[in-house]
Amino acid sequence: MDNSLDFDWGNIPFGYSKTDFNVRCYFKDGKWGDLEMSSSEEVSIHMASTALHYGQQAFEGLKAYKGKDGKIRLFRWQENAKRLQDSADGILMEKVPVKLFENAIKKVIDLNQKYVPPYGSGASLYIRPVLFGIGGQVGVRPSTDYLFVVFVTPVGPYFKTGFKPVDMYLGRAFDRAAPQGTGHIKVGGNYASSLVAMKEAHDNGFANVLFLDSKEKKYIDECGPANFFGIKNKTYITPKSNSILPSITNKSLMQLAEHIGLKVERREVPLTELETFEEVGACGTAAVITPIGRVIDKDTGKEYVFTKDNQPGKYSTQLYELLYAIQTGDAEDVFNWVEIL
Ligand code: PLP
Ligand code: COI
Repeated sequence: MDNSLDFDWGNIPFGYSKTDFNVRCYFKDGKWGDLEMSSSEEVSIHMASTALHYGQQAFEGLKAYKGKDGKIRLFRWQENAKRLQDSADGILMEKVPVKLFENAIKKVIDLNQKYVPPYGSGASLYIRPVLFGIGGQVGVRPSTDYLFVVFVTPVGPYFKTGFKPVDMYLGRAFDRAAPQGTGHIKVGGNYASSLVAMKEAHDNGFANVLFLDSKEKKYIDECGPANFFGIKNKTYITPKSNSILPSITNKSLMQLAEHIGLKVERREVPLTELETFEEVGACGTAAVITPIGRVIDKDTGKEYVFTKDNQPGKYSTQLYELLYAIQTGDAEDVFNWVEIL
């Protein structure tokens, strides 16, 4: 059956939908095997795998877009390949060679072409590479065997509102990552440790959590699964911190901000500065740019408001439109970020 026919492309959520194929590659006996294709949604691994017991796991997220010309475009995949290597290094896993990463993502897109949402739908094909230790052992040490899987799934915006301001929840009773821990790499443990805070935020009607630095609770870190930025006085300002994920979207937005005439500052952002921003937002592959309308400090009750009439700010809108136009091929790819497949 052709599942792709069932999609209402303009209204799909950010979630998992079955596609036809995924690709897999095993690292065993000290070497990577052949890239295999599979139509199964399941993996079979040893019950004592290091991934299951000791969190030896890392993942990536990137998107492919269909342009007006019907061609599929990939955004900055090399950066994701590199970040997966950094994540692997950070928890002593075998690194996926860049060429294998490239072959895997291109193969899985090719096998699932009909699931790439049409141009103009606002949806895209989310590509999820995942690497994990599969060696069965009980001692705490790195696995010798790994499985690298890449699946794809068509997605809409991460935050249900799309490009509309959301509210963020701020508190001091939860940390996402330790100051010298694993916050700078994309490993599952960081997400596990954010679930309770996220649930509390959701239960109170917020889109996500704005995490403060774990050591002093003085500086802004990031927004759930997205980086934070603020704009004031024609300056794009984003936190520099060892415990946030180096976002590829944020890296791109810093370049685009300069391109549209803003200054860019990447530095510690004290919470006391929050109220001085004219616009604030969250950015990431899934979130793209999600403007932040309000931040509520649950400990002090302080409310920070950034929107008028619940509309995104001028520069956030300009950055969002330019980034998305580059990704879909509507604007010139001035920085050479897009590969047409
Ligand atoms: N921060 C966290 C914790 C994330 O999970 C993500 C998503 O990947 C980001 C930031 C945004 O990074 P990117 O723009 O590379 O998707
Ligand atoms: C992404 O932006 O790719 C993410 O990984 C966010 C989240 C779904 C974990």
